[in-house]
Amino acid sequence: MKNNAQYYTKTAQIIHWLMAIIFIVAWLIGFYSGNFLSYETDGSFKGDVITLHKNIATTIIFLVVIRIFWRYTHPVPELPDSMSPSMKVMAHLGHLALYLILLALPITGCLFSWSAGHPAPVLYLFNIPRLIGENPQILSIVKPLHIYISWFAGFLVIGHILMALKHHFIDKDNVLKSMTRQK
Ligand code: HEM
Repeated sequence: MKNNAQYYTKTAQIIHWLMAIIFIVAWLIGFYSGNFLSYETDGSFKGDVITLHKNIATTIIFLVVIRIFWRYTHPVPELPDSMSPSMKVMAHLGHLALYLILLALPITGCLFSWSAGHPAPVLYLFNIPRLIGENPQILSIVKPLHIYISWFAGFLVIGHILMALKHHFIDKDNVLKSMTRQK
């Protein structure tokens, strides 16, 4: 939804920054566990770290659904006129890719855990109901998928941050402010 709004709504801003923090923390913990820990040398500590990764990362599923709903039911600021039409298309495609990634990562993460015979816990409170049982064939697909998507997501988020900083410090436009201010 678009109109003459200059800033995202307070709710959209809160969800955006909450998801940003959760994404970065979940990414770093997943990366640490996947690349620096092994069951042979770190034993149950690795299990604890993966459990922490899952308990934080599963919240993204709920937040992204709320976020998408909010995005299409509330006014969104227009991109600045100083941007060329092709840059605007690139920005929209980048944002679409971020939404898809934020859905794909927790979905492949849950499928990864379930197919390996483990639960998908949320904030140490409850488990997401299992949609599939232990299944080595599915595991052999969703495990590399989760890892490759997580790498792609890392680059995408770095690009997103760099573009936001470019808007603020080089173009000196309203783009970053639209996600941080109300007036
Ligand atoms: C936004 C959400 C998520 C992000 C950003 C994310 C990110 C990552 C990253 C960066 C890795 C390491 C990849 C590598 O080995 O290089 C990873 C591994 C993993 N993720 Fe996720 N993930 C997310 C959601 C989930 C969810 C919801 C689950 C399960 C409920 C999950 C389960 C796992 C598991 C089991 C590993 C393997 C860890 C290991 O081998 O030590 N992830 N994730």
